[in-house]
Amino acid sequence: MTQPDSLLLLCRAGFEGECAAELTELAAASGFYGYPTLERNAGFVVFHVQAPATALQLIETVRFRRLIFTRQWFACGAMLEGLDPRDRLTPVAERAAELPKCTELVIETADTTAGRELQGFGRKFASAVAPKLRQTDLLGKRGQKADWRLHLLVLSGRDMWLGVAPVRNSAPDPGGIIRLKFPVAAPSRSTLKLEEAWHWFIHKGQWEQRLAPGMRAVDLGAAPGGWTWQLVQRGMFVTSVDNGPMNPDLMETGQVEHLREDAFVYQPSKPVDWMVCDVVEKPARTTAMVIEWALNGWARDMIFNLKLPMKQRYAETRTCLERIEEALGDAGLRWRLQAKQLYHDREEITCWLSLER
Ligand SMILES: C[S@@+](CC[C@H](N)C(=O)[O-])C[C@H]1O[C@@H](n2cnc3c(N)ncnc32)[C@H](O)[C@@H]1O
Repeated sequence: MTQPDSLLLLCRAGFEGECAAELTELAAASGFYGYPTLERNAGFVVFHVQAPATALQLIETVRFRRLIFTRQWFACGAMLEGLDPRDRLTPVAERAAELPKCTELVIETADTTAGRELQGFGRKFASAVAPKLRQTDLLGKRGQKADWRLHLLVLSGRDMWLGVAPVRNSAPDPGGIIRLKFPVAAPSRSTLKLEEAWHWFIHKGQWEQRLAPGMRAVDLGAAPGGWTWQLVQRGMFVTSVDNGPMNPDLMETGQVEHLREDAFVYQPSKPVDWMVCDVVEKPARTTAMVIEWALNGWARDMIFNLKLPMKQRYAETRTCLERIEEALGDAGLRWRLQAKQLYHDREEITCWLSLER
């Protein structure tokens, strides 16, 4: 039985370099070495693990939640290349026999135009391959518990990657994409960024407590109000700071106070539960502002975007996050800080900082 020797990482197209750099660094920090191969705009990266370590060991060691630029991952062997359309099932089944037993099969495609066009084929192929694997017991009964999930990344009708991911250390949604419906009443598409951030960072079981009605929030760079709308939907009272106009329907809820002020100068008169910030600014400036809010205890939870520059995006990300940790550490605070490039993020990442009292 050949052990998987690679990790397949899915990411936003154009961010393959950041995805590769991050995994290489985190793997090395855990004593795993290897090298990435990537093609720009492919929407995925392959990381080859140096023996004697295996990809299964690596994927169980690095915490998936620590990865910012990887949306989904799985451990795999070589690509299934040049499959014969008359019999794609046999080589897939042979490869599945070499992997840990799973009960769930997920078909994925890269988040690229070509990948999206393959989704229909992927669904059809899944409905052919899953029963075949179950018949031969290569895939356990649906609903049975398993530690691993089987992933098939379809690159074309002939080229595919088959691998496994630990159920508890990977993204629960196919491709790592949380599918959200755009709420028609929301004033902007940006609204989905905040909703997705909550889904990703805050466990559903904690929503009632952490996103509770009656809480007070500040939305910096709020106009026209997509993020404020989400806060209002949760029953919160929001101070929306922006020189631009807010959506009139949102203002009529009576839950929103609109201040035409500079987000970087504004200070709340008393501490609030949430501060959210979607201002388009240099990441270093947003970072400095978040540190000021944290050190002054102005908000307990913060969600903010770091808009990444065109160059040195990974280095800039690390610098900003380290700066926050250093400042909060020096002040003796206790906190949780997570960052992710969400599906609705473009040239940016979203961060969640939660201060423990
Ligand atoms: C990406 S938009 C925010 C969209 C908003 N989150 C939504 O969901 O509708 C960025 C906003 O930041 C505002 N902005 C930029 N610089 C600002 C500053 N220094 N202070 C306050 N607002 C600022 C802009 O006017 C713009 O409305």
